[in-house]
Amino acid sequence: MTDHLLDRLVVAVGTQYLVDAEIGRGGMAVVYRARDIRLNRRVAIKVLPPELAFNVDVRERFLREAQTSAQLAHPGIVPIYTVDEAEGLVFFVMALVDGETLGERLKREPRLPVGQVRTILTDVADALGYAHAQGVVHRDIKPDNIMLDRASGRAVVTDFGIARAAAGDSRLTVTGVAIGTPAYMSPEQALGEREVDGRSDIYSLGIIAAIQGVEHAGDAGEARVGDAAAPRAAASRRAGRARERDRARAGQEAGGPLAGCHGVPRCAQ
Ligand SMILES: Nc1ncnc2c1ncn2[C@@H]1O[C@H](COP(=O)(O)OP(=O)(O)OP(=O)(O)O)[C@@H](O)[C@H]1O
Ligand SMILES: [Mg+2]
Repeated sequence: MTDHLLDRLVVAVGTQYLVDAEIGRGGMAVVYRARDIRLNRRVAIKVLPPELAFNVDVRERFLREAQTSAQLAHPGIVPIYTVDEAEGLVFFVMALVDGETLGERLKREPRLPVGQVRTILTDVADALGYAHAQGVVHRDIKPDNIMLDRASGRAVVTDFGIARAAAGDSRLTVTGVAIGTPAYMSPEQALGEREVDGRSDIYSLGIIAAIQGVEHAGDAGEARVGDAAAPRAAASRRAGRARERDRARAGQEAGGPLAGCHGVPRCAQ
Protein backbone atom coordinates (compact mmCIF):
# COMPACT_ATOMS: atom_id res chain seq x y z
CA MET A 1 0.00 0.00 0.00
CA THR A 2 2.74 2.42 1.04
CA ASP A 3 4.98 1.51 -1.86
CA HIS A 4 2.01 1.89 -4.17
CA LEU A 5 1.41 5.38 -2.75
CA LEU A 6 5.09 6.21 -3.10
CA ASP A 7 5.06 5.06 -6.73
CA ARG A 8 2.02 7.23 -7.45
CA LEU A 9 3.64 10.20 -5.74
CA VAL A 10 6.82 9.81 -7.77
CA VAL A 11 4.71 9.99 -10.94
CA ALA A 12 2.60 12.87 -9.57
CA VAL A 13 5.54 15.16 -8.72
CA GLY A 14 7.27 14.48 -12.03
CA THR A 15 10.72 15.92 -12.42
CA GLN A 16 10.28 18.72 -9.93
CA TYR A 17 10.90 16.72 -6.77
CA LEU A 18 13.06 13.73 -6.03
CA VAL A 19 11.13 11.68 -3.48
CA ASP A 20 13.45 10.00 -1.01
CA ALA A 21 11.69 8.04 1.74
CA GLU A 22 8.74 8.02 4.11
CA ILE A 23 9.44 9.96 7.30
CA GLY A 24 6.20 9.51 9.14
CA ARG A 25 2.47 8.99 9.01
CA GLY A 26 -0.45 10.15 11.04
CA GLY A 27 -4.10 9.25 11.16
CA MET A 28 -4.75 9.95 7.51
CA ALA A 29 -1.71 11.08 5.58
CA VAL A 30 1.82 9.95 4.81
CA VAL A 31 4.78 12.32 4.86
CA TYR A 32 7.83 11.83 2.63
CA ARG A 33 11.25 13.43 2.59
CA ALA A 34 12.13 14.82 -0.82
CA ARG A 35 14.31 17.33 -2.64
CA ASP A 36 13.12 20.24 -4.71
CA ILE A 37 15.44 19.78 -7.66
CA ARG A 38 15.23 23.27 -9.14
CA LEU A 39 15.62 25.10 -5.86
CA ASN A 40 17.98 22.49 -4.47
CA ARG A 41 16.42 22.33 -1.03
CA ARG A 42 15.03 19.57 1.12
CA VAL A 43 11.26 19.45 1.57
CA ALA A 44 8.58 17.34 3.18
CA ILE A 45 5.65 16.19 1.04
CA LYS A 46 2.41 15.27 2.75
CA VAL A 47 0.07 13.10 0.72
CA LEU A 48 -3.62 12.70 1.36
CA PRO A 49 -4.92 9.20 0.78
CA PRO A 50 -6.72 8.77 -2.57
CA GLU A 51 -10.08 8.09 -0.90
CA LEU A 52 -10.03 11.61 0.58
CA ALA A 53 -8.78 13.17 -2.63
CA PHE A 54 -11.74 11.63 -4.48
CA ASN A 55 -14.21 13.60 -2.37
CA VAL A 56 -14.70 16.91 -4.19
CA ASP A 57 -15.83 18.80 -1.08
CA VAL A 58 -12.92 17.62 1.01
CA ARG A 59 -10.47 18.33 -1.80
CA GLU A 60 -11.73 21.84 -2.37
CA ARG A 61 -11.81 22.69 1.32
CA PHE A 62 -8.32 21.27 1.73
CA LEU A 63 -6.95 23.30 -1.17
CA ARG A 64 -8.65 26.45 0.08
CA GLU A 65 -7.30 26.04 3.60
CA ALA A 66 -3.85 25.29 2.21
CA GLN A 67 -3.94 28.55 0.26
CA THR A 68 -4.86 30.48 3.39
CA SER A 69 -2.18 28.78 5.45
CA ALA A 70 0.40 29.38 2.76
CA GLN A 71 0.05 33.11 3.45
CA LEU A 72 1.50 32.61 6.93
CA ALA A 73 5.15 33.56 7.35
CA HIS A 74 6.45 33.13 10.88
CA PRO A 75 9.51 31.38 12.37
CA GLY A 76 7.21 29.26 14.56
CA ILE A 77 5.14 27.95 11.64
CA VAL A 78 6.34 25.37 9.11
CA PRO A 79 5.92 27.13 5.76
CA ILE A 80 3.84 25.56 3.02
CA TYR A 81 5.49 25.96 -0.37
CA THR A 82 2.84 24.57 -2.64
CA VAL A 83 -0.22 22.40 -2.84
CA ASP A 84 -1.07 20.33 -5.87
CA GLU A 85 -3.19 17.51 -7.20
CA ALA A 86 -2.10 14.94 -9.76
CA GLU A 87 -2.52 11.23 -10.40
CA GLY A 88 -5.57 11.25 -8.14
CA LEU A 89 -3.47 12.44 -5.20
CA VAL A 90 -3.66 15.69 -3.28
CA PHE A 91 -0.38 16.63 -1.68
CA PHE A 92 1.35 19.63 -0.28
CA VAL A 93 5.00 20.53 -0.11
CA MET A 94 6.38 22.16 3.01
CA ALA A 95 9.69 22.93 4.68
CA LEU A 96 11.42 19.86 6.05
CA VAL A 97 12.04 20.17 9.78
CA ASP A 98 15.15 18.37 10.93
CA GLY A 99 14.10 17.08 14.31
CA GLU A 100 11.34 15.18 16.03
CA THR A 101 7.77 15.91 17.04
CA LEU A 102 6.98 16.92 20.59
CA GLY A 103 4.83 13.78 20.71
CA GLU A 104 7.86 11.59 19.95
CA ARG A 105 9.95 13.47 22.49
CA LEU A 106 7.32 13.09 25.22
CA LYS A 107 7.14 9.36 24.62
CA ARG A 108 10.85 9.14 25.46
CA GLU A 109 10.80 11.79 28.17
CA PRO A 110 7.34 12.56 29.58
CA ARG A 111 8.65 15.28 31.91
CA LEU A 112 10.65 17.89 30.02
CA PRO A 113 13.04 20.37 31.66
CA VAL A 114 11.18 23.51 32.79
CA GLY A 115 13.22 25.75 30.48
CA GLN A 116 12.28 23.66 27.49
CA VAL A 117 8.61 23.62 28.43
CA ARG A 118 8.75 27.40 28.60
CA THR A 119 10.46 27.63 25.19
CA ILE A 120 7.91 25.34 23.59
CA LEU A 121 4.91 27.12 25.10
CA THR A 122 6.18 30.59 24.20
CA ASP A 123 7.19 29.57 20.67
CA VAL A 124 3.81 27.99 19.99
CA ALA A 125 1.88 30.83 21.67
CA ASP A 126 3.83 33.29 19.53
CA ALA A 127 2.96 31.37 16.37
CA LEU A 128 -0.70 31.13 17.40
CA GLY A 129 -0.87 34.83 18.22
CA TYR A 130 0.46 35.66 14.76
CA ALA A 131 -1.82 33.23 12.91
CA HIS A 132 -4.93 34.26 14.81
CA ALA A 133 -4.20 37.89 13.98
CA GLN A 134 -4.24 36.80 10.31
CA GLY A 135 -7.56 35.05 10.86
CA VAL A 136 -6.16 31.52 10.63
CA VAL A 137 -7.02 28.89 13.26
CA HIS A 138 -4.99 25.70 13.53
CA ARG A 139 -7.77 23.49 14.93
CA ASP A 140 -5.53 20.56 15.84
CA ILE A 141 -2.83 21.74 18.25
CA LYS A 142 -1.33 18.62 19.83
CA PRO A 143 2.21 17.31 20.47
CA ASP A 144 2.24 15.45 17.13
CA ASN A 145 1.76 18.74 15.28
CA ILE A 146 4.61 20.52 17.07
CA MET A 147 8.13 19.80 15.84
CA LEU A 148 11.34 20.51 17.72
CA ASP A 149 14.02 21.78 15.38
CA ARG A 150 17.26 20.02 16.25
CA ALA A 151 19.63 22.85 15.39
CA SER A 152 17.82 25.84 16.87
CA GLY A 153 15.87 24.09 19.63
CA ARG A 154 12.81 26.05 18.51
CA ALA A 155 9.32 24.63 18.45
CA VAL A 156 7.54 24.95 15.11
CA VAL A 157 3.92 24.20 14.37
CA THR A 158 2.97 21.97 11.42
CA ASP A 159 -0.33 21.43 9.62
CA PHE A 160 -1.61 24.95 10.20
CA GLY A 161 -5.30 25.15 9.38
CA ILE A 162 -5.06 21.98 7.36
CA ALA A 163 -5.39 19.07 9.72
CA ARG A 164 -9.10 19.54 10.33
CA ALA A 165 -9.80 20.80 6.84
CA ALA A 166 -8.52 17.55 5.44
CA ALA A 167 -10.38 15.51 8.01
CA GLY A 168 -13.46 17.59 7.32
CA ASP A 169 -16.72 15.86 7.99
CA SER A 170 -15.04 12.49 8.13
CA ARG A 171 -14.32 13.15 11.80
CA LEU A 172 -17.92 14.07 12.47
CA THR A 173 -20.93 11.87 12.75
CA VAL A 174 -24.17 12.89 11.09
CA THR A 175 -25.31 14.46 14.34
CA GLY A 176 -22.24 16.70 14.35
CA VAL A 177 -20.56 14.94 17.26
CA ALA A 178 -16.79 14.79 16.93
CA ILE A 179 -15.12 11.40 16.85
CA GLY A 180 -11.46 10.50 17.07
CA THR A 181 -9.01 11.24 19.86
CA PRO A 182 -10.29 14.25 21.76
CA ALA A 183 -7.36 14.50 24.20
CA TYR A 184 -6.36 18.06 23.27
CA MET A 185 -9.63 19.18 21.74
CA SER A 186 -11.54 22.15 23.15
CA PRO A 187 -15.06 21.43 24.44
CA GLU A 188 -16.59 23.39 21.56
CA GLN A 189 -14.72 21.21 19.06
CA ALA A 190 -15.63 18.08 20.96
CA LEU A 191 -19.27 19.16 20.66
CA GLY A 192 -18.83 19.33 16.90
CA GLU A 193 -18.99 23.09 16.41
CA ARG A 194 -17.70 23.83 12.96
CA GLU A 195 -16.87 27.51 13.39
CA VAL A 196 -14.25 27.50 16.12
CA ASP A 197 -11.85 30.39 16.62
CA GLY A 198 -8.37 30.95 18.06
CA ARG A 199 -9.50 30.30 21.62
CA SER A 200 -9.83 26.66 20.72
CA ASP A 201 -6.10 26.51 19.88
CA ILE A 202 -5.22 28.24 23.16
CA TYR A 203 -7.23 25.63 25.03
CA SER A 204 -5.25 22.84 23.34
CA LEU A 205 -1.94 24.52 24.17
CA GLY A 206 -3.17 24.86 27.76
CA ILE A 207 -3.66 21.09 27.93
CA ILE A 208 -0.03 20.57 26.89
CA ALA A 209 1.04 23.02 29.63
CA ALA A 210 -1.23 21.39 32.23
CA ILE A 211 0.19 17.93 31.59
CA GLN A 212 3.74 19.23 32.10
CA GLY A 213 2.52 21.03 35.23
CA VAL A 214 1.34 17.72 36.67
CA GLU A 215 4.62 16.04 35.75
CA HIS A 216 6.55 18.71 37.61
CA ALA A 217 4.20 18.84 40.57
CA GLY A 218 5.09 15.19 41.11
CA ASP A 219 8.79 16.07 40.95
CA ALA A 220 8.43 18.76 43.62
CA GLY A 221 7.05 16.18 46.05
CA GLU A 222 3.53 17.58 45.92
CA ALA A 223 0.57 15.27 45.70
CA ARG A 224 0.36 13.83 42.21
CA VAL A 225 -2.92 14.20 40.42
CA GLY A 226 -3.35 10.57 39.46
CA ASP A 227 -2.02 10.49 35.92
CA ALA A 228 -1.45 12.78 32.98
CA ALA A 229 -5.07 12.47 31.86
CA ALA A 230 -6.37 14.09 35.05
CA PRO A 231 -5.79 17.74 34.12
CA ARG A 232 -7.43 17.20 30.75
CA ALA A 233 -10.50 15.76 32.39
CA ALA A 234 -10.60 18.50 35.03
CA ALA A 235 -10.02 21.26 32.48
CA SER A 236 -12.70 19.82 30.20
CA ARG A 237 -15.19 19.67 33.04
CA ARG A 238 -14.44 23.23 34.11
CA ALA A 239 -14.54 24.55 30.57
CA GLY A 240 -17.70 22.63 29.86
CA ARG A 241 -19.40 24.20 32.85
CA ALA A 242 -18.19 27.72 32.18
CA ARG A 243 -20.45 29.97 30.21
CA GLU A 244 -19.32 30.84 26.69
CA ARG A 245 -18.52 34.42 27.68
CA ASP A 246 -16.34 33.36 30.60
CA ARG A 247 -14.42 30.89 28.49
CA ALA A 248 -13.80 33.53 25.85
CA ARG A 249 -12.28 35.83 28.43
CA ALA A 250 -10.19 33.02 29.94
CA GLY A 251 -8.84 32.13 26.50
CA GLN A 252 -7.77 35.66 25.75
CA GLU A 253 -6.16 36.06 29.15
CA ALA A 254 -4.27 32.79 28.80
CA GLY A 255 -2.88 33.61 25.38
CA GLY A 256 -1.71 37.13 26.15
CA PRO A 257 0.99 36.59 28.79
CA LEU A 258 2.37 33.48 27.06
CA ALA A 259 2.62 35.18 23.70
CA GLY A 260 4.45 38.11 25.30
CA CYS A 261 7.18 36.04 26.94
CA HIS A 262 9.89 36.24 24.32
CA GLY A 263 12.96 38.03 25.58
CA VAL A 264 11.43 38.81 28.97
CA PRO A 265 13.71 37.48 31.73
CA ARG A 266 11.96 35.11 34.17
CA CYS A 267 8.70 35.47 32.27
CA ALA A 268 6.20 32.62 32.94
CA GLN A 269 8.31 31.12 35.73
N1 LIG B 1 7.44 19.40 7.87
C1 LIG B 1 7.85 18.23 8.38
N2 LIG B 1 9.18 17.97 8.47
C2 LIG B 1 9.62 16.77 8.96
N3 LIG B 1 8.81 15.78 9.40
C3 LIG B 1 7.48 15.99 9.33
C4 LIG B 1 6.92 17.22 8.83
N4 LIG B 1 5.56 17.13 8.89
C5 LIG B 1 5.30 15.92 9.42
N5 LIG B 1 6.44 15.23 9.69
C6 LIG B 1 6.55 13.85 10.24
O1 LIG B 1 5.52 13.07 9.70
C7 LIG B 1 4.73 12.49 10.75
C8 LIG B 1 3.28 12.39 10.30
O2 LIG B 1 2.71 13.67 10.21
P1 LIG B 1 1.14 13.83 10.08
O3 LIG B 1 0.82 15.28 10.14
O4 LIG B 1 0.67 13.07 8.90
O5 LIG B 1 0.59 13.05 11.33
P2 LIG B 1 0.09 13.48 12.76
O6 LIG B 1 0.23 14.96 12.95
O7 LIG B 1 0.81 12.60 13.74
O8 LIG B 1 -1.40 13.04 12.78
P3 LIG B 1 -2.67 13.69 12.04
O9 LIG B 1 -3.10 12.67 11.04
O10 LIG B 1 -3.67 13.87 13.11
O11 LIG B 1 -2.21 14.96 11.39
C9 LIG B 1 4.97 13.40 11.95
O12 LIG B 1 4.76 12.71 13.15
C10 LIG B 1 6.42 13.83 11.75
O13 LIG B 1 7.27 12.85 12.29
MG1 LIG C 1 0.26 16.47 11.71
